[in-house]
Amino acid sequence: YIDNVYADEVLDSRGNPTVRATVILSDGTKESAIVPSGASTGKREALELRDGDERFLGKGVLKAVENVNSQIADELIGLSPYNQAEVDATMKDIDGTNNYSKLGANAVLGVSMATARAAATSLNMPLYRYLGGANAMTMPVPMFNIINGGEHANNSVDFQEYMIMPVGFENFNDGLRAASEVYHNLKKIIDEMNESTAVGDEGGFAPNLKSNEEPIQVIIKAVEKAGYKIGEQIAIALDVAASELVNESGKYVLKSENRELSSKELVEYYADLCSKYPIISIEDGLSEDDWDGWKILTEKLGNKIQLVGDDLFVTNASIVAEGISKKIANSVLIKPNQIGSVSETMLTIRLAQRNNYNCVMSHRSGESEDSFIADFAVALNCGQIKTGATSRGERNAKYNRLLEIGAEIAYAEYLGKAPFSK
Ligand code: PGA
Ligand code: ZN
Repeated sequence: YIDNVYADEVLDSRGNPTVRATVILSDGTKESAIVPSGASTGKREALELRDGDERFLGKGVLKAVENVNSQIADELIGLSPYNQAEVDATMKDIDGTNNYSKLGANAVLGVSMATARAAATSLNMPLYRYLGGANAMTMPVPMFNIINGGEHANNSVDFQEYMIMPVGFENFNDGLRAASEVYHNLKKIIDEMNESTAVGDEGGFAPNLKSNEEPIQVIIKAVEKAGYKIGEQIAIALDVAASELVNESGKYVLKSENRELSSKELVEYYADLCSKYPIISIEDGLSEDDWDGWKILTEKLGNKIQLVGDDLFVTNASIVAEGISKKIANSVLIKPNQIGSVSETMLTIRLAQRNNYNCVMSHRSGESEDSFIADFAVALNCGQIKTGATSRGERNAKYNRLLEIGAEIAYAEYLGKAPFSK
């Protein structure tokens, strides 16, 4: 049984406070988990409780820590760690709201993850095996975010993330190697352009490029310089994070091009990009409020490429269900802290998979050394993971953990292009 639960305040990769929760079992097992934090958050995400006082510029999490140490610990001590759903539902009951606005999703998710990890350890099982059983065998195809714009950078690029996906490889390891080689070639190219090679929050570069297309062209150069075939072996994925581009009149502002586009025009813009470049996935191509636009986008490109809802769906099963019934998007970004617990994240993944929506397990821009999502992606056979460039310790913690997992699974599968052949 769960013998003790507590939390403390630690720092994330951006240097902001976050919650580390620890669960101790009656057999002496002790495990912790650290909660990530987003910057371009969706409006309907579960609440991240911050103190808002003078400490850490208002970003302290002592209230969330206190909620773990008092209310959550009181109810969880004595429960079985092997009943994840009961543990998660108990916290949901204590909170009583639909977005964890009392306890804080950062308090709840930390305990939820630490419970799963402690249960796995006490059963002498790797976390992915505990969560997914013998069926956990899909190594995810990564999305490596290698050029940043938007809210994640200070340059004049409008789109938030330009990613590469190693789709033309036999296994995860070869894909990771290729991505790393492309990343280093990209660094050289950017350096030769006399642009800064300093990296952003997720490890990508943020050169001062002039248009939203130029990052794609530079990436293609890097792929070719690294000796790989663009499109064939390495494809391109975008996270536009379009909720951040909308102005008061509902138009999408492309600052770099000095243009304001309607949803329909932006969809045409994407269609044009897709006809010129091997783009296989676009995330948050339109804003979270623009469901009519999403409909147009899905009709236009939904049978050609992957359309991922991040801010749109916020890992929330009821919003995903609405999307499915309205035929909006065809893939769900999975960020456990958007919904608040391991069990609720699983529900969203199962719903998506049952309806042939792809799932992309995802980090946040504020991360930690915790590699929970690597195990989680494999456990639920998500098939894809997005966890930054091939640099920065907190990003590589996930990729390195996947190397370890891949070596343990004798019949591991790597889907390559399969999820994208619509
Ligand atoms: P966030 O960014 O963690 O800052 O929300 C990641 C994303 O938009 O996918
Ligand atoms: Zn996103």
